Amino acid sequence: MVCRVGAFLVSDLSFRLPFSTIQSSSVEKPRILIPREQIAMKVAEIGMRITADFAGESVVLIGVLKGATIFLADLARQIHLDATFDFIAVSSYGNSKQQSGEVKLVKDVDSSMQGRNVILVEDILDTGVTLTYLRNLLQARQPRSLKIAALLDKVSRRIQPIRADYVGFEIPDEFVVGYGLDFAERYRNLPDISVLESYSNGA
Ligand code: IMP
Ligand code: MG
Repeated sequence: MVCRVGAFLVSDLSFRLPFSTIQSSSVEKPRILIPREQIAMKVAEIGMRITADFAGESVVLIGVLKGATIFLADLARQIHLDATFDFIAVSSYGNSKQQSGEVKLVKDVDSSMQGRNVILVEDILDTGVTLTYLRNLLQARQPRSLKIAALLDKVSRRIQPIRADYVGFEIPDEFVVGYGLDFAERYRNLPDISVLESYSNGA
């Protein structure tokens, strides 16, 4: 069923913002870039690779709040190993889509990383500034191994020379939301990864 909710035309009722929170004269339908079925298949594939790579060992999955939460929740259930979770939070973007170049630690992990197989789980690798900072921070704590799993990779935007060990999809330089990714804290609950066109073209 197609219905119009606030400034958006959506094809089902799973996404709804209160009309009063959106004041715009234009009607925008977020364009689906990666549908939920493709995300699920890719997450299962990454889970299988991690399960094979760490066979017989334990891993700690560190989710980068808040964007990685949905990816971590799905990925964790595709990893058939002894696993624990931890979370870390940094501020870099605020409510803007530009990387400020500065990363500030907002919340540290709760447990020791020493001697453990750490997998840093992130929603998207963009300029690489955030993950370079986090990798250096965690590497200094002497883990047994440190890997990066990023669902999305905007390769063309890279400022820091960093690569993820497990990448879901390489995507073009467009601003995406959904499946945990936000714009000004909204849209994280969209089940597909979609392009917010008005923001992607600089509006
Ligand atoms: P980086 O430090 O530039 O690599 O940025 C990484 C962070 O920027 C991610 O964890 C996201 O929170 C945010 N980010 C980068 N690109 C996007 C996007 O297209 N949509 C939503 N958030 C993004
Ligand atoms: Mg993030």
